[in-house]
Amino acid sequence: MSQRPYGALAMAPYARASALTDEVLDRLRGFADVEPALLVGDFADPAARDVLGRAEFLVTGWGCPPLDAAALDAMPKLRVVVHAAGSVKHHVTEEVWRRGIAVSSAADANATPVAEYTRAMILLALKRAFTLSAQLSTMGWPGPDRRQPSGIVRRTVGLVGASRIGRLVIERLRDFDVRILVSDPYLDEAGAAGLGVELADLDTLVSTSDVVSLHAPQLPETHHLMDARRLALMPDGGILINTARGSLVDTDALVRECASGRLDAVLDVTDPEPIDGDHPLLALPNVFVTPHLAGAQGTEIALLGEYAVADLERFLRGESMLGAVDVAELPRLA
Ligand SMILES: NC(=O)c1ccc[n+]([C@@H]2O[C@H](COP(=O)([O-])OP(=O)(O)OC[C@H]3O[C@@H](n4cnc5c(N)ncnc54)[C@H](O)[C@@H]3O)[C@@H](O)[C@H]2O)c1
Repeated sequence: MSQRPYGALAMAPYARASALTDEVLDRLRGFADVEPALLVGDFADPAARDVLGRAEFLVTGWGCPPLDAAALDAMPKLRVVVHAAGSVKHHVTEEVWRRGIAVSSAADANATPVAEYTRAMILLALKRAFTLSAQLSTMGWPGPDRRQPSGIVRRTVGLVGASRIGRLVIERLRDFDVRILVSDPYLDEAGAAGLGVELADLDTLVSTSDVVSLHAPQLPETHHLMDARRLALMPDGGILINTARGSLVDTDALVRECASGRLDAVLDVTDPEPIDGDHPLLALPNVFVTPHLAGAQGTEIALLGEYAVADLERFLRGESMLGAVDVAELPRLA
């Protein structure tokens, strides 16, 4: 009988198709056995009982059902869950931690495309590219007066959250002559100095930044972090970028600020999400909305599968996993 580690795949078919490409599955099969034809979408499925009963590892992805007590009872040999996507909060329950099962997430790999999106948006929004483009058909070619305030050089970028995405954004802004402020209740002066940024409390950050970019997680304490009062603190011509979660912003207050022309916004996430086609935000020329695409898309999604499989290999060799999730840190993370 084979001594090779045995495991199962649990995710939605679309996640399997994009994250577990043939190359990724070949790498997985190089050191472990899986039944690639069996994609577990329901841990109570009788057709999956035998596979789950033998599984020492689980490769999960978008659409994986919750790993609750009943699901884990079906997997008595399970030692590790590697998630080929970002946050594990949707499927990793308390019961997983209680049973001492190790967990890894590919959030690091998903952070790269979000940081790339954010840098692109910061640079274009500081040039007022979205607003002036959207106004071409209604207001015509802009004179120099309509281009102000504009430009990248010597502007101030405020990042809310020294998260893995926030830190990659800092790295990606190094080539530019911008001042970077960061607000994060878990970052101290020494940590900020190590990142080469200035630590600021949130009110100071929003009132002194030309562009505010949100990188904090959705938590009870971050609900409407950008409420009407904080949006009002932003300087005239200020730009709000949200790639985090829609609930961090009071949407009605943002609509008012943008409809008055005082603020611009770039939103990859909205509240509500999905956003209706007739939502007031979509009618504003100074609000640029994308449908939650900053994270891994298309060809980028295989990077999440590669990251998860590489971490599984590390675990099975007895090494630490790069994306190991620390349950003690989870309450302040995405
Ligand atoms: N748009 C997308 O496609 C996409 C993709 C991935 C992640 N995200 C979102 O991006 C955000 C950042 O994700 P991440 O993986 O970089 O986060 P992370 O888990 O690495 O870090 C979260 C950070 O937020 C900080 N934080 C906690 N409470 C805070 C508060 N009140 N104010 C400021 N900072 C606070 C923590 O100290 C930590 O540094 C999350 O909201 C996540 O859901 C969006």
